[in-house]
Amino acid sequence: MKEELERYIRNLSSPENSLLAELESESNQRVVQPQMVSGHVQGKFLEMLTRMISPRKVLEIGTFTGYATLCFAAGMPEEGIIDTVEIEDELEGIQSEFFARSPHTHKIRRHTGSALDVVPGLGECYDLVFIDGDKREYPDYYRMLLDGGLVHSGSYILADNILWYGKVTEPNIKPSDLQTRGIVEFNQMVKDDSRVENVIVPIRDGINLIRVK
Ligand SMILES: C[S@@+](CC[C@H](N)C(=O)[O-])C[C@H]1O[C@@H](n2cnc3c(N)ncnc32)[C@H](O)[C@@H]1O
Repeated sequence: MKEELERYIRNLSSPENSLLAELESESNQRVVQPQMVSGHVQGKFLEMLTRMISPRKVLEIGTFTGYATLCFAAGMPEEGIIDTVEIEDELEGIQSEFFARSPHTHKIRRHTGSALDVVPGLGECYDLVFIDGDKREYPDYYRMLLDGGLVHSGSYILADNILWYGKVTEPNIKPSDLQTRGIVEFNQMVKDDSRVENVIVPIRDGINLIRVK
């Protein structure tokens, strides 16, 4: 999308709150690949969707520095809980620092480890799930959720980076490009699954919005 249009969308959307703006700026300075942060417009979109769904139990796969976690927590009802799972333990410092400063900190449960190992042990069934971990593992996350009974009829799943910078439409995806292959397999698997309905929303790098029937 043209930079000018992106700026227009940002300027004509509600402003980013100061804690999120600071987290984005700190992410830029303190961690590698800061572009993984959801950011202002997508973050606001996630918060608004969460307000609409009003989930009691939310799961996030791939916390990173916690930007999206804070957006979900802000949109959830007071009694809501978000389990957020991150494989890299060196991110714990920045996550804890910013989660502690949020007025919604009591809703956040942080877990370190691979989501594929951690989540089944949490014994929860989720109303809303954000898939944003390793792109190669998206099909495994989906199987874990749907076949493992971790979502119910009426649950929503949001999967991020579903257009993978446009690579999903390339005619010859290299066998070694496991991330693009993971996303392509995931999108097809959702499309072919009669247990769900879905729509791909072209916000930022694309979100697959899935509802369990
Ligand atoms: C795109 S970033 C997440 C961004 C974050 N959700 C946000 O919107 O600000 C992806 C994160 O997933 C983590 N990750 C990768 N594989 C994982 C796994 N199996 N379980 C949990 N986290 C994983 C990575 O270390 C990385 O921090």
